Amino acid sequence: MTFPIRIFVPKDAAARSVGADDVAARIMAEAEARSIEVSVVRTGTRGALFLEPLVEVETSAGRIGYGPVDPDDVTGLFDAGFPSADGHPLHLGPVDAIPYLARQTRVTFARCGVIDPASVADYRAQGGFRGLEAALAKPAADIVEDVVASGLRGRGGAGFPTGIKWRTVAAAEADEKYICCNADEGDSGTFADRILMEGDPFLLIEGMTIAGLAVGACTGYVYIRSEYPDAIAAMKTAIAACEADGTLGDDILGSGRSFRLHVRVGAGAYICGEESAMLDSLEGKRGIVRAKPPIPAIAGLFGKPTVVNNVLSFAAVPSILADGPEAYAAHGMGKSRGTMPFQIAGNIARGGLVELGFGVTLRELIEDFGGGTHSGRPVRAVQVGGPLGAYVPADRLDLPMDYEAFAEAGFMVGHGGIVVFDDTVDMARQARFAFAFCAIESCGKCTPCRVGAVRGRETMDRILAGEDVATNVALVEDLCTLMTDASLCAMGGLTPMPVKSALTYFPEDFDRAHAREAAE
Ligand SMILES: Cc1cc2nc3c(=O)[nH]c(=O)nc-3n(C[C@H](O)[C@H](O)[C@H](O)COP(=O)(O)O)c2cc1C
Ligand code: SF4
Repeated sequence: MTFPIRIFVPKDAAARSVGADDVAARIMAEAEARSIEVSVVRTGTRGALFLEPLVEVETSAGRIGYGPVDPDDVTGLFDAGFPSADGHPLHLGPVDAIPYLARQTRVTFARCGVIDPASVADYRAQGGFRGLEAALAKPAADIVEDVVASGLRGRGGAGFPTGIKWRTVAAAEADEKYICCNADEGDSGTFADRILMEGDPFLLIEGMTIAGLAVGACTGYVYIRSEYPDAIAAMKTAIAACEADGTLGDDILGSGRSFRLHVRVGAGAYICGEESAMLDSLEGKRGIVRAKPPIPAIAGLFGKPTVVNNVLSFAAVPSILADGPEAYAAHGMGKSRGTMPFQIAGNIARGGLVELGFGVTLRELIEDFGGGTHSGRPVRAVQVGGPLGAYVPADRLDLPMDYEAFAEAGFMVGHGGIVVFDDTVDMARQARFAFAFCAIESCGKCTPCRVGAVRGRETMDRILAGEDVATNVALVEDLCTLMTDASLCAMGGLTPMPVKSALTYFPEDFDRAHAREAAE
């Protein structure tokens, strides 16, 4: 062990919510009281959230983990010999060998939880900026074609090929172009964008800078939801560090090329994650969905050609440039190439982030990684892809996570959020929730969504009260068809997905209301 001994404690928001700040303070105080020379480094999280606060100690044999460490555990850990407390019950052994982490394919999240998110030097020492250096050595068109060849598809939800979008922006003639990162991350059960921005913000900066070089844009904006104050702070710190280091600014790494980044904070509207509403919000207006065409790639921010991508899409780009598109495309299945950071949440024993190639099944994610439900009861339904995603029934858990396989089954992968429900869930209530959510979050521009969501909620209330159930279920089905076909954007267009999946796979929950009606 070298001195001072380096101890890593996450300052990720999830870890902080379970006491990581206190743990860090208690470790420093105990070490000082016992005259043990330590230096505490605050990192992001590795994503094994059930182990947070996960404390790591640097040793010649790699990092050794302890977790989950409660502030009150710290004295006992030191009594047991911490920083070298092998016999303590919280001792987990080498962090890289923890099965939850060891079985993942970490590409985008390789440095998350490892580096100090405020240190450019740390990022560079761990292989950072190799992608940017490779991009600076290529013609812009070759960068775009590398991204096309990697098969990368947008991780924000729709799965549109990222390279094709970049090609459109690159080909557009304009005096100014923009790179906008969608970090609104409004989907229930998702947190990968946040974890990345808090744990490895330089990766996002690198990806956005490469996008700027590829399409000829010199300015970028990261649009972050206000509910993410730690991510906002981490991004601002990292941007300032890159400016001081010369990685951002008017002479990127001495190349004479320019790129500047700004953070903008949203105000808590789900619809501001929709790309055109996000652009309105970035322009200082109320976030309302724009009619397409024109698409943002042609006329986006301030009417200029704009790349809009999700955090994870940009963050996948540096490895594509650094290691080649083939290496990235080697992961995955079918037309879903690369890795996806899946997020396991809801009623789950071991919640967290699991990055793997597409093709892993829901069952593997929920059972092998997640350890089944937190309640110990059987899984009944899994909502994949956020609040507009379908409820997948327990007998479809062997479906591979693949855009096409999911679409064929009437489901969607979306941003990779997986929310687990046990057998106590009432799916008729979940169907009501879908309409209620849309009624609250609709931007109000088009009638099928604005009025349809309210009528859907009211009709579900009548079904739940057992009023004329068969007629009201038929009305809900009609309404779903109307909203799917006639809504201006996917907010209204996809709200029927969870409703219809609940009706299709869990009709007995609607019949229960039927039974109540018959009994009265
Ligand atoms: C209602 C609604 C909310 C959305 N929220 C987000 C979001 O929070 N983050 C995101 O990246 N994309 C979100 N999207 C998708 C974006 O409109 C857009 O497709 C995406 O930012 C494009 O980036 P990508 O190609 O990298 O996925 C949302 C779409 C809709 C319809
Ligand atoms: S579908 Fe809903 S959110 Fe989308 S434009 Fe229409 S009213 Fe707005």
